[in-house]
Amino acid sequence: MSHKILIGMQWGDEGKGKITDLLAEEADVVVRFSGGNNAGHTVIAEGQKYELHLIPSGILYPKKLCLIGSGVVINPRSLVEEMSGLKKRGIALDNLHLSPEAHLVLPYHLRLDNLEEENKAGDKIGTTGRGIGPAYADKAARRGLRVGDLLSRESFGKKLEKSLSYHNAVLEKVYREPAFDLQQLKVDLLSLAEEIRPHVTSLPPLLWKSHRENRQILFEGAQGALLDLDFGTYPYVTSSHPGAGGVSSGTGFGPRYLNEILGVAKAYLTRVGRGPFPTELSGEQGEKLREKGQEFGVTTGRPRRCGWLDLPALRYAAMFNSVTALALTKLDVLSGFSEIKVCTGYKINNSITDRLPDSFQLKNAQPVYQTLTGWEQDISGITNFQELPSEARHYVNFIEQETGVKINLVSTGPDRKEIIHRQPL
Ligand code: IMP
Repeated sequence: MSHKILIGMQWGDEGKGKITDLLAEEADVVVRFSGGNNAGHTVIAEGQKYELHLIPSGILYPKKLCLIGSGVVINPRSLVEEMSGLKKRGIALDNLHLSPEAHLVLPYHLRLDNLEEENKAGDKIGTTGRGIGPAYADKAARRGLRVGDLLSRESFGKKLEKSLSYHNAVLEKVYREPAFDLQQLKVDLLSLAEEIRPHVTSLPPLLWKSHRENRQILFEGAQGALLDLDFGTYPYVTSSHPGAGGVSSGTGFGPRYLNEILGVAKAYLTRVGRGPFPTELSGEQGEKLREKGQEFGVTTGRPRRCGWLDLPALRYAAMFNSVTALALTKLDVLSGFSEIKVCTGYKINNSITDRLPDSFQLKNAQPVYQTLTGWEQDISGITNFQELPSEARHYVNFIEQETGVKINLVSTGPDRKEIIHRQPL
């Protein structure tokens, strides 16, 4: 049995929620492996809209095992709120399990995230303000608290005290900010522990058992490849590994059986937060993409920056994640553009390359465009590739040719059913 990985190919917000939801129908187990509640996955099912931040999209199907791996950082309050929101809407959570090794995002991480950003002046990253970077920093510095710690009442207080003595010192001495009160924080956090406790399980044995029983596992990516801590547009990245490489380290399921890697790419490009975005459109066309595509963050509500598709970036993401196929989303948003530009290469120091310049050179590189003819017809909801206008078919085929990766799915609207299957899933 080989298992599937689904990842974002751009700077997040590629419409992964919908594609994961589609693949989740076929899977028995759905697993989150990186990021935290900086992610926001929108799924529209049976006319109902769900916004998920930490819980895998598979939760919307009864009987799927839904796992949150150790590579995810968990804000316990957000998790409990998300759980209770789903319960209120009649979604059962019996199959939700999370790793005791997953690190906690605690209130001081949020405070530090915001203070670090405020103090960066012109150099802000534009984080989601969810405390993600400081939580992963604590993990790497080996001073973090984990889900398993929260479950042990006796030792939790001591561990929290130790962690807080460090963070309070930073708050008071570096930022001249008030410290957190140990007792208050301890009571608040322990009050969440009982909601979480029944869901905590060691994941590697569960994943291995699922594999041995021939159950299909889907690893659900959050954020996008270009936000990868190492291979993204550093430092304008998130603090985890949202690509295919993050799966094994973020779940404890080895790479041997991970053979299908589906990359999700939007038909154009968006980015929230700061950082280079060479194909960004600042004027009317950018505004049109934002309005038509409803490009506002699910997590923060921030307007997303919009621009043309960047093929060198897509090729790069396809390469370092060894993707086996692509899903192209939001093709319908491009209807009504008489011309569509696509970045096919970059000019740096008077020479042209078809590769994405690395993060050291990107800001000095100029995109080189090819202009394709657009289409007027509204293609929303089309499910048969042949029914697309020839220009839209050409657009899809062009991306396929330029990346050398098959586009198996094309999404033509937000609903589960608005999708073209060019290959069986
Ligand atoms: P952080 O992950 O909150 O630290 O933010 C770091 C960068 O990643 C910022 O540019 C965020 O806007 C971006 N980011 C984090 N999560 C997402 C996401 O789910 N979608 C899009 N961008 C994200």
